[in-house]
Amino acid sequence: MKKKILFVCLGNICRSPAAESVFLHHAQSKGLKELYEVDSAGTGGWHVGHEADPRMRNAALKRGIKITSRARKINISDFTKFDLILTMDNQNFEDVNSLAEKCTEEKKAIISPILSFSHNNNLKEVPDPYYGGENGFNDVLDLLEDAVKGLLSSYQ
Ligand code: 4NP
Repeated sequence: MKKKILFVCLGNICRSPAAESVFLHHAQSKGLKELYEVDSAGTGGWHVGHEADPRMRNAALKRGIKITSRARKINISDFTKFDLILTMDNQNFEDVNSLAEKCTEEKKAIISPILSFSHNNNLKEVPDPYYGGENGFNDVLDLLEDAVKGLLSSYQ
């Protein structure tokens, strides 16, 4: 059975679509892509249906990573569908856990901060790059690349 992983941020146009694509990129290069089914979602619904932020898409493309997802909002059925739900910051973690309490069916998903899989930093959160400059998008990608490598080596 494929492992199902959902990446979650606030808007689902910057961090979590990047996490999804970075994950697939590294899974592909390790020959592990077929082991996983992945998706991303936001805790907020403002950008539902939108492509990822062009600043994030461009920063990822410079690393050879294409982001193609459209934003959607997390919903209660995600807790029964996914094995692992990975959040970007503390607020996402709290919001996802609050929503999980409303799920009356048997929950499958383990909810965890994505950076708990990191090897090379002690940060606990992937900072929201939306209102910052271009560097913020590269910093997010650096954090995600490190976390995804840890995830791929420990979660198969
Ligand atoms: P994300 O970034 O959570 O990484 O997708 C954001 C995108 C949009 C907004 C906030 C964060 N917003 O407030 O519209």
